[in-house]
Amino acid sequence: MASSCERGAAERPLPFHVEEVPEDEVKRLQDLGFEGYPQLVRTKPNLAYFRPPYARLASAFYNFAFRPDDVLVLTYPKSGTNWTSELVWALRNPDALHRAECAAASERFFFIDMDILRPGRAAEDDPTYQRFVATCPEGRVEDGVQLQLASAHKGPRVIKTHLRFDLLRQDLLDTCKVVYTVRNPKDTCVSYFHHCSNNIRSTFKGDFSNFAEAFMTNGINYGSYWDHVRQAWQRKGHRNLHIMFYEDLKADIHGELRKLANFLQLDRDDDQLKTVAEHASFEQMKSRHERLSVNHMIRNFFRKGQVGDWKNAASEELNNKMDDWIRKNCRDIDVSFNYE
Ligand code: A3P
Repeated sequence: MASSCERGAAERPLPFHVEEVPEDEVKRLQDLGFEGYPQLVRTKPNLAYFRPPYARLASAFYNFAFRPDDVLVLTYPKSGTNWTSELVWALRNPDALHRAECAAASERFFFIDMDILRPGRAAEDDPTYQRFVATCPEGRVEDGVQLQLASAHKGPRVIKTHLRFDLLRQDLLDTCKVVYTVRNPKDTCVSYFHHCSNNIRSTFKGDFSNFAEAFMTNGINYGSYWDHVRQAWQRKGHRNLHIMFYEDLKADIHGELRKLANFLQLDRDDDQLKTVAEHASFEQMKSRHERLSVNHMIRNFFRKGQVGDWKNAASEELNNKMDDWIRKNCRDIDVSFNYE
């Protein structure tokens, strides 16, 4: 790739492969209800499943040039990514919160994974494409619209991704600050289930037990919940990594914002933290999203925002199965979760 918006320094070779997911595995997932996944690719080793555009862009993601003034919000899907991003953005921009009233989240943060999940189209009537053409006149859509828009942006960036640490450059934590938000696996699974079921493209047609089966056998987009969390946990204590729990944010937003502001080296007083918490409350974010987002691919994106919704979704039998799965996977990781 060569363009005015290119990624920069010499490309490092990928230390993993990307292969097509075998037909029988695709069939297994389709039988569980993932009708919208006719094709998938996966990384090898440490399988993480993706939609096909990832194969083309894996190197661009791996080589993405993060900068020292970036904050990367890195999460497993449905762990509170958008909430975390809004908190980071608002902490950094306490005097510009009004901007969020007219600029949708997608205009204030870079969600680079969009190039995999919903690749840009060269459509003249698409506002993102218009922005891309204006910003990166020599850029090619197939090289990733969000990746190139993010690369072209001057100044501090809030970047979001669900890509695990091993799929990003290995000097990431020596380059910029990373905020990793974890959510308990049961609520994450329930939220992910609704996300896929509420996709207007009908990504998932099965019931919750089918989805949980795919989740626990790592067959969903981005792969294993545990691999993701484990990779963050192994890096715990690094000066550039801040790990937060969704449940702690719910229980004590002020205390968590104080820790987050300290990590970001931002001097914010209590009133400012209170304003940030309100600005990023579930109700305010939901209302702005409904007003500003042009393309509602996911119905009811701001769904419930609660801890413990798994109780409404999992049967006793499935809950026991999930408990076994959690016990087994927690053997080598000293993380503990709140489920209520
Ligand atoms: P539910 O589906 O349980 O409601 P992500 O941003 O990673 O996609 O995570 C989405 C989940 O975070 C959804 O959970 C969503 O409702 C919840 N969420 C989003 N904004 C929130 C906020 N400000 N406070 C609490 N939860 C929020």
